[in-house]
This record gives sequence, C-alpha cells and structure tokens, in this order.
Amino acid sequence: MLPTSSGNGYHNNSSSSNKRFRGGVKRNSRFGNESSNSRVSNSMEEKQSSSSQSPPCTDFDMAYFQSYSHVGIHEEMIKDRVRTDTYKAAIMHHQKYIQGKVVVDVGCGTGILSIFCAHAGAKRVYAVDASEIAVQANEVVKANNLTDKVIVLHGRVEDVEIEEEVDVIISEWMGYMLLYESMLGSVITARDRWLKPGGLILPSHATLYMAPVTHADRYSESIDFWRNVYGIDMSAMMPLAKQCAFEEPSVETITGENVLTWPIVVMTPPFRAELQ
Ligand SMILES: C[S@@+](CC[C@H](N)C(=O)[O-])C[C@H]1O[C@@H](n2cnc3c(N)ncnc32)[C@H](O)[C@@H]1O
Repeated sequence: MLPTSSGNGYHNNSSSSNKRFRGGVKRNSRFGNESSNSRVSNSMEEKQSSSSQSPPCTDFDMAYFQSYSHVGIHEEMIKDRVRTDTYKAAIMHHQKYIQGKVVVDVGCGTGILSIFCAHAGAKRVYAVDASEIAVQANEVVKANNLTDKVIVLHGRVEDVEIEEEVDVIISEWMGYMLLYESMLGSVITARDRWLKPGGLILPSHATLYMAPVTHADRYSESIDFWRNVYGIDMSAMMPLAKQCAFEEPSVETITGENVLTWPIVVMTPPFRAELQ
C-alpha cells in the first residue's frame, strides 16, 4: 500500500534494472532480540553497506522509507480487514508449507505478517524493513515473546544479510494500480538472494485489470462546479479543472453501475518462471 500523503512512495525510475533502490545505507542492522541465531549481528548501529552490488538508496527512497515510519499508514493497512484477513487466511491455508520452515517477510512494517507466520509454526522468520518502523516491529515481537523465532532486520532487502536459504517469502508489496510502489523488484531480489528452489512465494500471482468508469457526481463536484461560483461564471476554469482531474490518480470506492465495460487483463507480473 502506498502512503497517502503526497509526493512519497512513488519510485518512477523504472528504466533501471534495479527498479527502486540504488545504494546501501544500511546493512545487516539487526535489533538485539536475544535470538539464539548468532549468524546475524545484533548491533543496533547501522553499518554502512560494503556491497558494491546493491543499488544506491536515493533521496526519493529515503523519503519513501521515512513515510513508512509514521504510525498512520500502518494503522490504515492493518485496519483494512480485507487485506489483513486475506493474508492471514493465505498463511493458514499454506500452513503445511510454513510449519517448521524458514520465512522472510519482505517489508515487514509492524511485523504483523511475520507474527502470523510464527503463529503458523514457522521455525524462523526474518522480518526485514528499511523504515524506522522496524524498531517498533522489534518491540512488538518482544512483547509477543517471539524473539526466538522472529528476527527483525532493519535495512533494505537489497542490503541485509541472511546467511541461510529460506523456504518461504511473504510480502505485502502491492501498491495502487498494483505496481505503483515498485516494490515487486525487492521481492524478486529476495527471491534471487535467498529462496530455495521450489520455495513458496506468498502471494505468487497477481493480475491487473482495467475498466473505464463513469462518475457523474464526481464530475459535477469537480468540473461543473465552476459553471456558477457564488453567482460568477467561472467556466473558464473548466479546462484546467479537467486537466488536473485527469492528471492525478484518484482512489475511490465506486459501484458496479459506474463501470462501463467488463474489465480487461492489463498485465500479470512475472514472479517465477519467466524471470528465472
Ligand atoms: C505495504 S507496507 C507492508 C507492511 C506490512 N508487511 C503489513 O502488511 O502491514 C510495505 C513495507 O515494506 C517496506 N519496504 C519497501 N521496500 C523495501 C525494501 N526494499 N527493503 C526493506 N523494506 C522495504 C516499507 O518500508 C514498508 O514498511
């Protein structure tokens, strides 16, 4: 999900093969959660990335991660019951693939999906997030007595080190219009770095549909509005109002009656075979 405040989260450097992140500012910075897994440093201090392979972290990326340090976006995501319950149900549905297995949660946020996986019986969950929200995730893990299972890694998926292969990757990477946050590239990076052959990716498929819609009330509120403003004919504003309305994405709940034709499939992002 994309934070709703303006100007954050949108990584538009899609021409780059690395999609979103270009540089290492954090590497293997883990919170001391007394886990027995000593392969990961428990230093609170961030280490500068020594990897020349990870893409540099741009100012844009920093602003993106900063936007995820705010509680509001996490509250909104978690309160979205369709989203959160669907992940929980998918985890339980795949419990036999998770039980006793090693999981990485790409972009763990508050740690909720990592904890669902731990409850489903995962042997170990690496909860990775580059935002400061990882500090809170670590506290949540401690408060739930899961420090022996859930290891919070504060850093980018592109930079942190996990010194074992994983059986499962879970991630809530979908942005508006599916790809808006360009986070899928980071899931693919995690897959290529750590996933065992034949391992599970949740979710493993996605389909983007598109359909033309009409919204007469919305048109009236934003465009027709200018016809008569306090008795003044301001219809000269209408071309600009239309231009602005069509330039900006708008996230709204509409009814089936607003949809003009059957949706068509626009794309199905390649997760697995196509990219291997
Ligand atoms: C849509 S939120 C999902 C949070 C959480 N998994 C949930 O379901 O509530 C995406 C999270 O991924 C993190 N993130 C995005 N790209 C990342 C990357 N390359 N490395 C580490 N964290 C990343 C963001 O900071 C953000 O907290």
